[in-house]
Formats: sequence, structure tokens, C-alpha cells
Amino acid sequence: MMNTGKDILYASKVILEGKLVAFPTETVYGLGANGFDPEAVVRIFEAKKRPSFDPLILHIGNIGDLEKVYEKPIPKLVTDLAARYWPGPLTIVGRKSSLVPDVVTSGLPTVGVRMPGHKIALELLKLAGVPIAAPSANLFGRLSPTKSAHVREQLAHVDYIIEGGKSTIGIESTIVAVIDKTIEILRPGAITANQIKIDFPGIEVRVSNTEDHIQAPGQLKSHYSPVKPLYLVDKEPDVLPDNAGLIVFEPESLTGNYNNRVAILSKKGDLIEGASKMFAALHDFEADINVKVIYAIKVREEGIGVAIMDRLKKGAFRFSDKSADI
Ligand code: TXA
Ligand code: MG
Repeated sequence: MMNTGKDILYASKVILEGKLVAFPTETVYGLGANGFDPEAVVRIFEAKKRPSFDPLILHIGNIGDLEKVYEKPIPKLVTDLAARYWPGPLTIVGRKSSLVPDVVTSGLPTVGVRMPGHKIALELLKLAGVPIAAPSANLFGRLSPTKSAHVREQLAHVDYIIEGGKSTIGIESTIVAVIDKTIEILRPGAITANQIKIDFPGIEVRVSNTEDHIQAPGQLKSHYSPVKPLYLVDKEPDVLPDNAGLIVFEPESLTGNYNNRVAILSKKGDLIEGASKMFAALHDFEADINVKVIYAIKVREEGIGVAIMDRLKKGAFRFSDKSADI
């Protein structure tokens, strides 16, 4: 049985003993270890079955910790991004300091850093007093967890799980790299490219084309994947097999009267609400023995729709050789 509870002080001690703590953030649950303790960090890779070439991000609880994790001088654009969006769902990749062990960054000279906007996560970070390395608390390549039960379903080797209810955003942070004086978006999230352009007029904001080059395994074509086939469809299917589950973000367009399991993620068709429930709906269908195949109706790639479609396409990719025609 795994150890789940709300004792943040205890959790901070577990971290300082070099063990693993799963904790809630506003994006998804993280699987944390002391980011300055290489042996503890190795345990994360083992628990997730994550390949060692896939770097981890560090979480900090104080803006003063920026100096510990990034090489000095820290570019002004990095501190400006942090000031604008932290605590919040933005991970900033910059040159790492010598204090950050190579195992965290998989040998890269850069490190991703985020100050989460979640009370429990911030308190844990403050009590532990060290940066916490934390990927999403799922097995490598699988669905991200948005509640503690999702963590227990996938991970057997976690020393303590902090119970913190549902993640409110429900989709992983936006990752940006600051390169010279430009911002490159490596992973779309709740903070959109448009938002960053509005907030940083005059700064070039590029969206990296994941087809051209792979900068990070989060940019691999297959990721965030359920164990059952996931197919993306343009509109409501005319006929749905009995053993199918259907994920709907925008129910206005829905006309069918199905016997099937239909997960309507937002009655109003609000994509921010839909994003927050997407991984939970996929987890539910993954666990439902009556569901053998999952369909999701695509959304427009605008605003948070970009992040939703990024996760859905990667989740569906390994099934894309088979036909989605029904
Ligand atoms: O919202 C989030 O970011 C969550 C919560 C727990 O904070 N964390 C998370 O971590 O999603 P993870 O490891 O599942 O995804 C981080 C991604 C990975 O795809 C990794 O390859 C990429 O960030 N990454 C880490 N360090 C990087 C670096 N130095 N350069 C480029 N990409 C990096
Ligand atoms: Mg992940």
C-alpha cells in the first residue's frame, strides 16, 4: 500500500532523506526528489521507467533560488518571464548552474525551471528548502496524472503521495527556452504563444516545429498515451461501436443519442475547463473494462486548443497507422 496523506512537513523530510514524494501542482501531479541529490534523482528515472536521456525540470519555491539553478548572469528575459508568470504554469529553460547535477538535465547545459502556482507545492518547496526535480508522476509515455489516484494506478515506488485534490489546469506547463533575445516555445500549455506575444511586445516568439527536430522527449511524436487505442475524429461519428468511449470538448455540435460512454468535458464548450478534465477522462476510459477504443473529437488549434491538440495527437500517434474510419 502506498503512503498517501496531507502531511507536507513529513513530505519535506522524505525529500531531504533522498526519497520520492508525489505532490499536486496546478498543472499535473509531479514525482519529486531533491534536485541537488543525484542519487535521489536517479530514483525518479527508475520509478517512471524513464530513459536517462529525457531531462527533468526543477521546481523552486522562492525567486531567490533562481541564482542557485541558473548560470549567472541570468538573462533579463528569463527574470522578466519569471516575474510575469510565476508562480504559474510556465517552465523556463536557461543555462544551468554548476550546482545542478548532470543527471537532472541528462547532460544538457540547460535546465528547465518552474515555480508552481499551487499552495501545497509551494509549501513543500519552502519546507524542503531545496529545488525539487519533478516530472509528471506517470510511467514514461503514459497519461499524465491530475489526481492522486492516477499516481497510485501507475507508480509502485513512491515513498509518499500528498493528497491535493484535482489539478485545476490539468495540462502540463508551457515550456519556453530563452535563446539570445528570443523566446522559443518547446511545449504548448495554458500560457499561450499569443499571451506571451502580448505580454512581451517587441520580443520574437517562435513555436518550435517538432517535426523538424526533437529538442526534448516531450516533443516526441508519441507521448501522453493511453493503453487503449485513441483516435482523433473531425466531428461526431455517425455510428460508434458499442465498446467505444467518446471524448467531447464542445457539446453544442453533438447530435447523436448514444448508448456509449460519452465524456462531455465542458457543458459550455469552454476549452479551458475541457483541458482541465481531459487526462481524467482518458484515465477513466483506460480503466473502464467496457471501453476498448477511445475517440476524441478534435478542437480548433487556438489558445489552449493548441495544447489540447498537442497532447491528443501525441496520445493518438502510435495508433495512427490503423484507420480511424468508423
Ligand atoms: O507542468 C509541468 O511541467 C509538470 C509539473 C509536475 O511541474 N512537469 C512535467 O515534467 O511535465 P515532465 O518531465 O513530464 O515534462 C518536462 C519536459 C520533458 O519533455 C523534458 O524532456 C523537457 O521538459 N525538458 C526538461 N529539461 C529540458 C531542457 N533543458 N531543454 C529542453 N527540454 C527540457
Ligand atoms: Mg511528463
